Amino acid sequence: MKSEDQKPNKILVFNALPYANGPIHIGHLVGYIQADIWVRFQKLQGLQCLYLCASDAHGTPIMLSAEEIGVEPRDLATKYTLQHQEDFSDFLIQFDNYHTTDSKENKELVETIFASLSGAGHIEKKIIEQAYDEQQKMFLPDRYVRGECPNCGQVDQYGDSCEHCGSTYKTTDLINPISVLSGEKPSLKTSEHYFLKLKNFESMLKGWIETIDIHDSVKAKLGEWFVTGLRNWDISRDEPYFGFKIPGEESKYFYVWLDAPVGYLASLKHLCDQDNNPYQYDDYFSKDTTTRLIHFIGKDIIYFHTLFWPAVLEGSGLKKPDGIYVNGFLTVNGKKMSKSRGTLIKARTYLKQLNPEYLRYYYAYKLSSGIDDIDLDSNDFINRVNSDLVGKWVNIASRCAKFINDDFNNQLSSTINDPELLANFQGEADAIAAMYQNRETGQAMRAIMALADRANQYLDQQKPWVLAKDESQKHQVQSICTMGLNLFYVLMIYLKPVVPSIVKNAEIFLNAEKRQWSDVGETLIDHQIRDYNPLLVRLKTEDIDAIIDASL
Ligand code: MSP
Ligand code: ZN
Repeated sequence: MKSEDQKPNKILVFNALPYANGPIHIGHLVGYIQADIWVRFQKLQGLQCLYLCASDAHGTPIMLSAEEIGVEPRDLATKYTLQHQEDFSDFLIQFDNYHTTDSKENKELVETIFASLSGAGHIEKKIIEQAYDEQQKMFLPDRYVRGECPNCGQVDQYGDSCEHCGSTYKTTDLINPISVLSGEKPSLKTSEHYFLKLKNFESMLKGWIETIDIHDSVKAKLGEWFVTGLRNWDISRDEPYFGFKIPGEESKYFYVWLDAPVGYLASLKHLCDQDNNPYQYDDYFSKDTTTRLIHFIGKDIIYFHTLFWPAVLEGSGLKKPDGIYVNGFLTVNGKKMSKSRGTLIKARTYLKQLNPEYLRYYYAYKLSSGIDDIDLDSNDFINRVNSDLVGKWVNIASRCAKFINDDFNNQLSSTINDPELLANFQGEADAIAAMYQNRETGQAMRAIMALADRANQYLDQQKPWVLAKDESQKHQVQSICTMGLNLFYVLMIYLKPVVPSIVKNAEIFLNAEKRQWSDVGETLIDHQIRDYNPLLVRLKTEDIDAIIDASL
C-alpha cells in the first residue's frame, strides 16, 4: 500500500457492473454509495479521480427474460441501463462515465485480449460434457439445473452447490436432476470449450495479492482458494447465447464473465474517445502507469476480481488493480431481503418516498473496510437520521441562523467567540480524512457526530436565546452565533462526501459555495450569509411503512 505522502496523481475507480436484466435494489446500492463517498472524498482533496461504471448486458438470464416477454435482449438491456442510470443519479452517485458491455469498444477489447491470451499460450481447448435441455435445445448453466445434493441428499439444490450442506460439485453429479426451463431430465452432451489456464498465473497471483490494498478477510479467502488449487476457467458458451461471438467460431460465444470485467476498460475507452476530453486511455492501463486502479465489489464476486481478472490483465500485458475493496451484503431488519417481507426494496420505490441522503448517511454510518454484512434496521435507520443529521448537525445551524438572520441583517461578527474550540474542530481534519481514505466511514460519522455534540453543548452553555433578551448583550449573541455557524461550517465540509446535496444547500445558506476539504481552515467572519431554510426534515415511521407496503 502506498503511504499517504506518496499520493498518486490519478486514481481510477470501478464499481462492479450491474446486470441489465432487472431493476437495482437497495442492496446493490451499498457498494455504489460506498464507492461514491470514497470518490467524492478524493475529489474534495483535489485529486484527479475517475469513477466509471457500465451495464453488464450479456448472458443467459437476460437472453431468457427477453425471450419470455418477446423483445430483443439488446433492447431489454438498454431499457434497464437507462433505468439504472436514473436511479444512480437520483441517489447522487456520480459516475464520470457509464457505458455498456454490449458495445463496440468492448467487442474490440475482448477480441484483442483474447488474441493476446491465445498468443501467449494461456488458452486451451477441451471437449467437456454438460447438461443439455433437449426441449429448449440449449446447454444449461449450473443455476438452471436442480436436483438432490450428491453429498447430503437435500432435494431441490442448484447444479453447482448445496445451500443445505454447503458442498460444491459438478452439475453432472446431481442426483435426479431436472432442467429449470423445461422441467425435464437434462441429457448429457459434449462440446468443445475454451479455457483460460489459470494455473499459469498461480505464483503471479500469490505475489500480487501481497502488494495490493485488500482487507485481511478477503486475503484469507484467497488463501483458502490457493490451498484448494486453481482450476482452469471455461470462457466459452455454446449458442443460443447473448454475447460476443468468438472470432473464427460459428456458434460459440465468450462467456459473460470474460467480457464483463473487460467492460471496465470499455467504459474508460468510451470516455477517452469522446471529443475534447482530457483523459488518455494509455495513462491508465499500460503496465508502467502510476495511476492507481481500484475496484469496489460485493463479496459474492471476489473470485472473479481477485483471480480471473488479474490473470486476464497479466496475460494480456495490462496493468493489474492496486486495490480491491469489498463490501458485505445488505440485510433488512436482520434478515435476507425478501419480497414477501416487503424488504426487497427497489431503488425507485425508495426514491418515490424518501430523500436519498438519509440512506447515504445510514450506509456511511454502518460501513467499514471489512466485508461483514450490514443490516438496515428500520428503527435504527429512523433514529440515526433524526438524531444525528437533523438533531445534531442541522440543529446547530437552525439554532444560530434565526438570530443572525433576524437581528443582525445576515452579518457575521468580526471575531470568533471561542477560537480554541474552533481550532479543535478544524484540527480533526486529518484524522477524519484518514478514516474516509481507509473506508472507515462509520468511524468518521461517529467522530463528526461527537463534534456536533460538542457544538450543541457550547450553545447550551452560551444560551444566546437568553442573552438575546438583554439589549446590552447584543454583540455577544452575534459572536456566539457566528461561532456556532463556524462549527457547523467545519462539520459541513466533513460531511460533504456523504450528503452532497444537503451540503450544497448549507453552502448556499452560508454563502460559502464549492468548498474543498482544505477550506476547513477558513473562518467565516465579517461575512454575509443568507436566509436560513430548513435543510432536512425528520424521518417518520410512516415513510418506512409506505416503502415496505409498496415493496410487497
Ligand atoms: N454483473 C455482475 C458484476 C460484473 S463486474 C465485472 C454482478 N451484478 S449484480 O447486479 O448482481 O451486482 C452488482 C453489485 O451489487 C455487485 O458488487 C454485487 O456484489 C452487489 N450486490 C448485489 N446484491 C447485494 C446485496 N444484497 N448487498 C450488497 N451488495 C450487493 O454481480
Ligand atoms: Zn448438501
